[in-house]
Amino acid sequence: MKIFGIFGDPIEHSLSPAMQNAALLALGETACYHAFRVSREDLSAAILGAKAMGFSGLNLTIPLKEKALQLDILEPDPLASAIGAVNTISFTKSGMVGYNTDGWGALRALYDAGVEIRGKMALIIGAGGAARAIAYTLQQEDAEISIANRSIKKAQELAAQVDACGFGLSDLERLVDKADIIINCTSVGMRMGDPRLLRTGLLKSSQAAFDIIYNRETEFLQDARAAGAVAVDGVMMLVHQGAKALEIWTGKKAPVQVMERAVREALRAKQTGQG
Ligand code: ATR
Repeated sequence: MKIFGIFGDPIEHSLSPAMQNAALLALGETACYHAFRVSREDLSAAILGAKAMGFSGLNLTIPLKEKALQLDILEPDPLASAIGAVNTISFTKSGMVGYNTDGWGALRALYDAGVEIRGKMALIIGAGGAARAIAYTLQQEDAEISIANRSIKKAQELAAQVDACGFGLSDLERLVDKADIIINCTSVGMRMGDPRLLRTGLLKSSQAAFDIIYNRETEFLQDARAAGAVAVDGVMMLVHQGAKALEIWTGKKAPVQVMERAVREALRAKQTGQG
């Protein structure tokens, strides 16, 4: 029996066990993927414990992704190193390798929706951990990137690292008008009744809108659909970051549709109070 896990705190809400157990079953693996509540203080002991117990792979989520790199017990791949965060660990004979598949998840979600990235103007709204992973990955695909954030200082700091321009939210409407791809990497829209990220009516049918939020259909995505734009939700990023992790661990092609179905079912169960 292969054991996989996800460490985080809080972790009860995680959809990864439902998604990865469905995938492992579909791949014919005799395996189990479980969520473990691990604090920042216990992260080193938990990772080393998982290795000692013969785990086949780990995911890390909030608030552990940055901490894992600081511990110096992992060998990060170049992208994880540049992003400064690890969400996937593989255990090999020679050691433990850290990867960041979050940006890849976003990229794959956009490509799957038929969105072209190379040479396109991408506007990233937000400058936190998710924005960082996506900015680095889009930079590698030769997108022309702008970053707008509530804290302009954070936008400018991230922009300087990915050869982009950083702005405050007062420039948002002008930036949205010029962008081909608009990505919400803030937490705005996660709760019903949140203030709007954008005034309604700003999006155009030629644009693609991508929201990293996956627990509900945000007003941002509703506006995009109403405008006839391509609308991509955060479920697809979650699925593809998990698919990439699974492929790193098993060397097998991930059953992406099975994973998407498991996530959407788990979300529906939560919404109807059965989750
Ligand atoms: P994550 O790791 O999910 O990206 P994070 O690092 O906490 O989470 O980042 C959250 C992002 O949402 C930040 O860009 C934050 O803006 P600030 O850097 O100015 O804090 C943004 N954000 C959160 N609440 C917001 C709000 N009400 N309006 C605009 N931006 C908001």
